[in-house]
Amino acid sequence: MKTDLPQSFRRLEYRPPVYTFDQVELDIALDPARTIVKSRIEVLPGKSFEPGSPLILVGHELEFVSLRINGEAYRHFKLTPETLTIHSLPKEGKEKFVVEIICVCVPERNTSLMGLYVSNGNFFTQCEAEGFRKITYFLDRPDVMARYRVILRAREVECPVLLSNGNLLNTERLPNGWHSATWEDPFPKPSYLFALVAGKLECIEETITTSSGAKKLLQIWVEPHDLKKTRHAMDSLIASIHWDERRFGLELDLERLMIVAVSDFNMGAMENKGLNIFNTKFVLAQPETATDADFANIESVVAHEYFHNWTGNRVTCQDWFQLSLKEGLTVFRDQEFSADQMGSESGRAVKRIEDVRLLRQLQFPEDAGPMAHPIRPDEYQEINNFYTVTVYEKGSEVVRMYQTLLGKEGFRKGMDLYFKRHDGQAVTCDDFLMAMADANSKDLTQFTNWYSQAGTPRVKVQEHYDPTTKQYQLTLTQSCAPRPGQPEKKPFHFPLKMRLLTRANDQQEQLLELTQASQTWTFDNIAERPVLSINRNFSAPIQLDFEQSEADLLTLFSNDDDAFNRWEAGQKFAMQMILNGRLPDAQLIQAYRNLLLDPALDPAFKALALMLPAESYLYEQCKSVDPQKIFTARRAFRRELANQLQLEWTALYQQMQTPGPFKANGVDAGKRALKNLVLSMLLEASPAVWTPMATHQYEIADNMTDRYAALSALVVHGSRAAQDCLIDFYNRFANDALVIDKWFGLQSSRPPVDGLESTLLEVKKLREHAAFKLNNPNRVHSVIHAFCLNNPASFHQSDGGGYEFWADSVLALDPINPQVAARLARALDRWRLFAQPYQDCMKAALERVSACQTLSPDVREVIGKAFGS
Ligand code: TRP
Ligand code: ZN
Repeated sequence: MKTDLPQSFRRLEYRPPVYTFDQVELDIALDPARTIVKSRIEVLPGKSFEPGSPLILVGHELEFVSLRINGEAYRHFKLTPETLTIHSLPKEGKEKFVVEIICVCVPERNTSLMGLYVSNGNFFTQCEAEGFRKITYFLDRPDVMARYRVILRAREVECPVLLSNGNLLNTERLPNGWHSATWEDPFPKPSYLFALVAGKLECIEETITTSSGAKKLLQIWVEPHDLKKTRHAMDSLIASIHWDERRFGLELDLERLMIVAVSDFNMGAMENKGLNIFNTKFVLAQPETATDADFANIESVVAHEYFHNWTGNRVTCQDWFQLSLKEGLTVFRDQEFSADQMGSESGRAVKRIEDVRLLRQLQFPEDAGPMAHPIRPDEYQEINNFYTVTVYEKGSEVVRMYQTLLGKEGFRKGMDLYFKRHDGQAVTCDDFLMAMADANSKDLTQFTNWYSQAGTPRVKVQEHYDPTTKQYQLTLTQSCAPRPGQPEKKPFHFPLKMRLLTRANDQQEQLLELTQASQTWTFDNIAERPVLSINRNFSAPIQLDFEQSEADLLTLFSNDDDAFNRWEAGQKFAMQMILNGRLPDAQLIQAYRNLLLDPALDPAFKALALMLPAESYLYEQCKSVDPQKIFTARRAFRRELANQLQLEWTALYQQMQTPGPFKANGVDAGKRALKNLVLSMLLEASPAVWTPMATHQYEIADNMTDRYAALSALVVHGSRAAQDCLIDFYNRFANDALVIDKWFGLQSSRPPVDGLESTLLEVKKLREHAAFKLNNPNRVHSVIHAFCLNNPASFHQSDGGGYEFWADSVLALDPINPQVAARLARALDRWRLFAQPYQDCMKAALERVSACQTLSPDVREVIGKAFGS
């Protein structure tokens, strides 16, 4: 019987490497059925070296062929399924020696999309975090940094293009129709940043001049029919390069930078040195096929990967527990870039609101559930499970707090010192904190708690105004619920931006630093009771416990000069009403009306202000969740809003039109966002009148944003017209995989509609559709993940049918692609929060998955933690 407990890795068990690598030469003969990988590695003693230490290399699913040391065949080694241990080394390993290994891998059978694999007949690699060991035996850990020279060989007709990291040294014709290309990367790098791409691809290219006057070659490689969709990615790349020079003084360090798009990919994109590999979804766009949101996502992912060149590649992570060192910081940098691209203060606020919405919708639930972990985890079973919204998005919030505490200039000084100290090294989150602290002579000791403690902190707000002394007192008390393995919490260091709003408008914004469990501030000479605007611009990633009166919330919603908090007040007001099963009253409707009519406000901001809090965020406010009740209350609230403001909607639908040729700019995108929100409100209020208008918009649209929004509104409201439009949409875009993903996603995201069959039944049909593929992550996401993770009211069917479908899908996906399966497995994380009968049904589904004897470590960890082990 198998009684193995899952293996855990612990942060505090880190040991520096015993050996390290200097020069690495790879000679790779590409063949889908049998790729031969020859490596030649110069090995040196590492920091933990002791004479006589064996060299332990890792390998995964490799066929071993031969080993040589210093040019001679070598017998003193031991092979296990995961290791190659070489012992009795020459000179006890004290001096440089050369290891040569030949091994074989099978790209065409690799469905995990980690290591070397085939997609649409072309070769790609994905090595982060531990994929390189699927290519050859290696010290596959980020603190071993080596210089690489790579010879790629392939049959020329099948693989005319051969790419790897760095600079192209030469190309050669070989016998029997083969050819080769030799690449050299001048920068030492960890194995996770290695990449190769080979196949039938074409590129657009551009030469730019960077701040030092150097010329750089930029290329975007795609399948030939996609060339026309690469302009936006190229523009985004150029904008990112210039932004990093301006904001952080960081210049592109390579002669050439390549981006390659691939349609089978586990995540968004990957920052391999000089050879970024992207999911097609984050490269390809044209107005006819991509929405405004797609354009914005492409811009931010292109920027994200480019920014990794410094924050991740030049300075990398000592070990995978430090992942947030590069990811939190790089998300912060891409968020700042996107905000700057918006070009106005109100645009920045729109970007901030979108980011916080996402944090609350995805990260708050994670931080309250069984997979909760600090941004720097202390323990993991499978590192792939820790590419989380906590490490990325909360990690970015933590970096943002440095900037709030130290100011923009202080933050820049900290970044400069970080690169001065650590360029070319593999370091820890502590090193980053120390650079920030030392550059600013600020004690940030307590700030380390953000790296060690999980859970969303709560801050309770109590205020007292004394009209006789004209004093206003503010007391803030912090707490944080126990999380797995962390019963007691130490107080956090919070930067809290606040302002007292008075009629005299005589109080400035201030930055409070809350460091103790409870602290009181006194403000003098306050002529009348002020309205408190606190945690402005979401300066700290917390939940506020603040029983602010409805009158004060309305004041903030109508007048706060901090656009984020203005939005926030509306969200809070609406949330309280929805959770209490109330409908918007006359005063709230009037406040919404004023907001919609205010000519000074951005349409994009108005659209966000009219969007209700996500269901998953509402769940987190409850002790016991009844998903159908929350759906119904939220829907009723929305319907009332739709009914009460019909006149305004009708006018806005006209005013927000953007006549003339399509423009992708922010102003027009904001108008489209508001217009399309309005369209869905109109369909909610009077479907009979507005269904023809929505159908008309669908038919005449010259861009995907408007076409998709109209179709989505028709589907969500269960219009009969939706069926014809769906058929038309499929036929129109049958050859465009990314648009067909939208077609699938739209249908699996439909909330319940009275009189229509359940979305679950439709999703089961979609799963049988000829164009559905279980081994393409984008397609799987658009059908299965969209339903289980992003469509709560349809997924949480009271008969548990959704959970049965979930279990079937996890079990079907796991043998194909454990990463994709494990992400889906997370859909039942919060099962203990649900009321009956949901909770018991979820438990039964979890038990069924858990009973499978052959689960991957990825899924095993998620399911195990759901049961609290
Ligand atoms: N480093 C990548 C990023 O943040 C993340 C990534 C891409 C990844 N592909 C992956 C992580 C596959 C794990 C597995 O941009
Ligand atoms: Zn990243």
